[in-house]
Amino acid sequence: MKNVIVYPGSFDPVTYGHLDIIKRALAICDRLIVAVSSNPTENHLFSSKERVLLLKETTKGAKNVDVKEFDGLLINFLERKGAKIIIRGLRAVSDFEYEFQMVLTNRKLNEKIDTIFMMPTEKYFYLSSSLIKELATLGADISKYVPEFVEKKLKEKISYAKSQKKAF
Ligand code: PNS
Repeated sequence: MKNVIVYPGSFDPVTYGHLDIIKRALAICDRLIVAVSSNPTENHLFSSKERVLLLKETTKGAKNVDVKEFDGLLINFLERKGAKIIIRGLRAVSDFEYEFQMVLTNRKLNEKIDTIFMMPTEKYFYLSSSLIKELATLGADISKYVPEFVEKKLKEKISYAKSQKKAF
């Protein structure tokens, strides 16, 4: 039986920190499903389709990676995929409380599903999609934090958002 791991998140947008976790996760599973949350109540810069596309593009060289969109409960998605393990990246202590809450909530929903945590390499330790969006909006160089393709799409998105604001 194949060892399938699910790596869920918003990925708005994918960063080198996420890609580092994907690489590490691939070393311990046969198939990794990167699950992009498309919950409409969450406020994202990129649509779920765009976030999937960015991930597909940036993982296209990696074997055994599937990028899928999901809505509703993560646990239901895992059950549909026959997976029993969730993987999440853990950075600073500040991540802990939120992650702890998610693990316990998911465990209440299905106690057979477990979460494992991996730490990204220290140079990406402080990276987050929110920080990158802020830096990009303020015109900082983000090429160290995201692949070129993502950087390009992020700049396009931000300049479009700025032009829309000007219209009001
Ligand atoms: O990258 P994020 O935003 O920290 O990812 C959070 C995500 C998408 C993994 C989490 O919000 C999630 O699992 N959402 C699906 C809804 C769900 O299952 N909620 C119950 C568990 S908290």
